[in-house]
Amino acid sequence: MSLSSRRHFLFRLMGGAAATLGAPAWVSAATSVVDRDQRAVPGIGIGPGPFPELPAGGAPDDEAYWARVKELFPLAPGLILMNAANLCPSPYVVQEAVFAHTRDVDRDASFQNREKFEALREDARTDLAAYVGVPPEEMAINRNTSEGNNTVVNGLDLGPGDEVVLWDQNHPTNNVSWDVRSRRRGFTVRRVATPPGAGDPRELAEPFLRALTPRTRVLAFSHLSNVSGVLLPTRELCQAARERGVLTLVDGAQTFGAFKLDLRDLGCDVFTASSHKWLMGPKEAGIMCVRAEVQDRIWPSGVGVGWERALERGAQKFDNLGQRDDAAVVSMATAVAFHQALGLEAVEGRMRYLASRVMEAVDVRFPRARMHTPRPVESRGGVVVFGLPGVDHDAAYRGVYRSHHVGCAAMTGEFEGIRLSPHVYNTLWEVETAVEALAAHA
Ligand SMILES: Cc1ncc(COP(=O)(O)O)c(C=O)c1O
Repeated sequence: MSLSSRRHFLFRLMGGAAATLGAPAWVSAATSVVDRDQRAVPGIGIGPGPFPELPAGGAPDDEAYWARVKELFPLAPGLILMNAANLCPSPYVVQEAVFAHTRDVDRDASFQNREKFEALREDARTDLAAYVGVPPEEMAINRNTSEGNNTVVNGLDLGPGDEVVLWDQNHPTNNVSWDVRSRRRGFTVRRVATPPGAGDPRELAEPFLRALTPRTRVLAFSHLSNVSGVLLPTRELCQAARERGVLTLVDGAQTFGAFKLDLRDLGCDVFTASSHKWLMGPKEAGIMCVRAEVQDRIWPSGVGVGWERALERGAQKFDNLGQRDDAAVVSMATAVAFHQALGLEAVEGRMRYLASRVMEAVDVRFPRARMHTPRPVESRGGVVVFGLPGVDHDAAYRGVYRSHHVGCAAMTGEFEGIRLSPHVYNTLWEVETAVEALAAHA
């Protein structure tokens, strides 16, 4: 489907969603419809209808534009949700696609009616692959980042004498999972710490480069840390690893959907991510991109129906998972279309703009705050983590939800503090209000 017809599809869905779910008046009070998309499900809620004119490419600081984007989400009135690092809402258009496909399956679960999902799934694969800059043969659609990470951890033939180098800020699924596997296989896990407060990419890369030895087989790290907000110089690290014949596993849970990505340029061997975070896509769906050259080195974690066929289709051997929630899988394409409709640079620009405003607001309101997230823009993204001296962060995070309806996260351990992770459905006013709300509990 071309981008332009995709847009018609998208905006028509927005209109359909508005009619069904009671979106704001401006959504349904918009202009006319163009083409009818053959892939829409007839008679069950997705169909032609009015769609809003919302041109792509809103400037990062165009509050009026982003206020309209916010209205495309079914957010509870008054809620200030700033927790994209954990779970994002889907816009009406994605929600409605999931609902419609789910209703379709439940209305007629015959093989004949569900046959279409195979083509729709391959369309979704193609769209997701293009979205991150890889060929469809390198794209597996699985259930989440955790599954992708564990597939690599359990799927590599490693043994005594082999070393795996990890970032100590990795998510447990790319961290503890290696320890568990090493107990069975006898390889060595080496953890790398980056200097606290470092924001210079060279300073961040240095400890990893020092840790690589002739025995290193894997370098596994988060593109962007969910605990500190640090963005690693991933391209440089992947290049250094490739030169040494080391396989790279990049956990992209905090960048997929937030950044305009080009995985070819990034140079990683495996990239894992979830649909339900920054992509704002369906829940319990994810991606695992595996470079063609390393696919043979990784065993899949399971074998399902259609295994022989999956084997011939590159990364599909990693998503041979049995019955899936087809509605969620195929509606990832709608989530991609939503990003394309807004513009990938615009999404990243807005997310970065709001994260910078969070940092500024924290600096002003809490001059003694300890900013765990680096200042330089090249070493951060949409996740801002800061400690407030003398404050019970857990109590503050619970308190702001009760008093001001602010959804954020409290972090423990080395990067103890509050995490605010804004996305395109947030406004500048919300950033300021969230920080003010914290002040009321500090
Ligand atoms: C860096 C990172 N990796 C993996 C995950 C796990 O994501 P999921 O639960 O969607 O598998 C998270 C969740 O926050 C994360 O931040």
